[in-house]
Amino acid sequence: MDQNENSEMKRGSLIVFEGIDGTGKSTQLELLAVHLRASGYDVVTTKEPTEGEFGQRIRKLYLNRDEVTREEELDLFLCDRRDHVEHLIRPSLAEGKIILCDRYYLSTMAYQGAAGMNIDEIARKNNFAPEPDLALIFQLNPRQSIERITSNRGDRLNDFEQEDSLKKVERIFNSLSYPYICYIDADQTIEDVHHAVTAAVYTILNRPE
Ligand code: TYD
Repeated sequence: MDQNENSEMKRGSLIVFEGIDGTGKSTQLELLAVHLRASGYDVVTTKEPTEGEFGQRIRKLYLNRDEVTREEELDLFLCDRRDHVEHLIRPSLAEGKIILCDRYYLSTMAYQGAAGMNIDEIARKNNFAPEPDLALIFQLNPRQSIERITSNRGDRLNDFEQEDSLKKVERIFNSLSYPYICYIDADQTIEDVHHAVTAAVYTILNRPE
């Protein structure tokens, strides 16, 4: 989010994949990685929460989110991101790589915002993180996203609150207006979504410096 720092340091590209759970963004990230590598690009794929110390602590919380306060939860995501930025994102950008990252700070704004934290404050606390060149926000009706999750995993989600909170998350994602955001309609075949993704990605990769 720090423009000066970005333009001085950055040589690679940061493309982030965002949206509510179950939109197919992780599948699309992998398809894009295969496509770009076949075209000769040096691609790094990564995700948040990471596999690092803080990411692992976050995953343990999935089972019982109320073990920590909302502030502590936000801090964990921020600590995880600081590690990620320092150890992987900035070095890879400096090496000129294309980084495909599954979730980044727009997820914090949407999810922790939906949990009641102030969205502008969340954005401010993410000032240390380089702005993405492109944020693909995958859009799908929360009811459909839950159907996809339950049918893929064979789980039953009978908690109505989850649909309610995903609706709040979705509303925040839909209200964001950064210039680097591109909304992708995820209610299409995997192939059609992939075409929409590659079209958006080539607009930034072919952009003159
Ligand atoms: P997800 O991409 O589903 O990861 P995994 O495949 O490891 O389960 O993300 C896990 C959850 O974390 C998802 O529901 C969104 C949430 N999340 C936040 O609440 N804030 C954040 O900043 C990030 C990165 C994720």
